[in-house]
Amino acid sequence: MMQRIKALAKNMLPSGALDTWRRLRANLSNTHEALLDAKRHRLLGGPGEGSFNSGWSGRQLETQLTKDYHRVEKGLALRNPKRPFGVEVEKRLVVGLGNLDGTEAAADSYGIFATSALAALQSWNTGGDADDSVALRVNRDDVFRQADPGEPAEERWEHFFSSRRSVRDFDDSIGVNMADIEAAVSMATHTPSVCNRQAFRVHVYTGEAAVSVLAQQNGNAGFRSSIPVVLAVTVDARLFSGPSERNQRWIDGGLFAMTLGWALHSRELATCYLNWSMKNSQSDTFRASSGIPAHEDVITLIAVGIPPKNFKVARSPRRRLDEILVQHD
Ligand SMILES: Cc1cc2nc3c(=O)[nH]c(=O)nc-3n(C[C@H](O)[C@H](O)[C@H](O)COP(=O)(O)O)c2cc1C
Repeated sequence: MMQRIKALAKNMLPSGALDTWRRLRANLSNTHEALLDAKRHRLLGGPGEGSFNSGWSGRQLETQLTKDYHRVEKGLALRNPKRPFGVEVEKRLVVGLGNLDGTEAAADSYGIFATSALAALQSWNTGGDADDSVALRVNRDDVFRQADPGEPAEERWEHFFSSRRSVRDFDDSIGVNMADIEAAVSMATHTPSVCNRQAFRVHVYTGEAAVSVLAQQNGNAGFRSSIPVVLAVTVDARLFSGPSERNQRWIDGGLFAMTLGWALHSRELATCYLNWSMKNSQSDTFRASSGIPAHEDVITLIAVGIPPKNFKVARSPRRRLDEILVQHD
């Protein structure tokens, strides 16, 4: 029946009208799906920390506690941590931890990590004591562990992955070789992409251009001046079409950004991804001021450099494997 109606409509409609109708239908579907995405994010993701209050619980509270305990880890991992810092963070950790029930607070996870981060923050702010278990002291070899030819292959690979750390302290006396950046981007082109569309692009900033880019991002304030190179990973939004592909560019861009991080790691360049969790107006301003075409979406920024011989990294504890790996028989 539907087929016959379609065939009839096709014959009766003036030429071009069918195309217009199809475009209209796709546009409506695009908008409908985007609204459903927004609704899902609103219902599942919560309103954001501006609305934080003592009524928060469950995953919403876990998200806020994790953000805040990680802020302490990052703050204490800086070369010269501010003192005092984290007044609002401390307040939220105190209120949030008070909301945890006994099981959550005792679990080998965010409750414990938030408790130790709060103690570390208070001890730093009041007495200037840096807790080395919240921000770990490491050296350059720890984060670029050289492959030992005698090591079994699986251990070598395990070390390659486990040695990477977000680095927030760079040695500004050692320049980054552009040939290494080119080599890493070239390696990252092996990233799979939907129908091989390869929508990813990398914009490289150094000197004054890097300073301007970093000033527009909210997660690098404590180590901005030591970052020698910034990359902006973007995707060409024109390479995706139709309502079902509305989020595909974020997937392809994210996969590429991660491959690039591993490729830089393999060239012994340290990285720190810098979120581009921004509103559209901020992205517009950023594109206009950073030479990024309007049709590209920003996936993430990446700070790149070489760390000093000795430095600190955020503890960034991992979830247990059984929280991540779900087996279905
Ligand atoms: C997309 C993305 C955005 C991030 N944004 C920031 C940021 O703005 N500032 C920062 O210091 N770290 C940032 N990070 C680094 C995370 O804090 C870090 O990856 C996490 O704590 C795990 O630690 P590790 O990278 O040392 O293993 C970001 C990471 C990702 C993947």
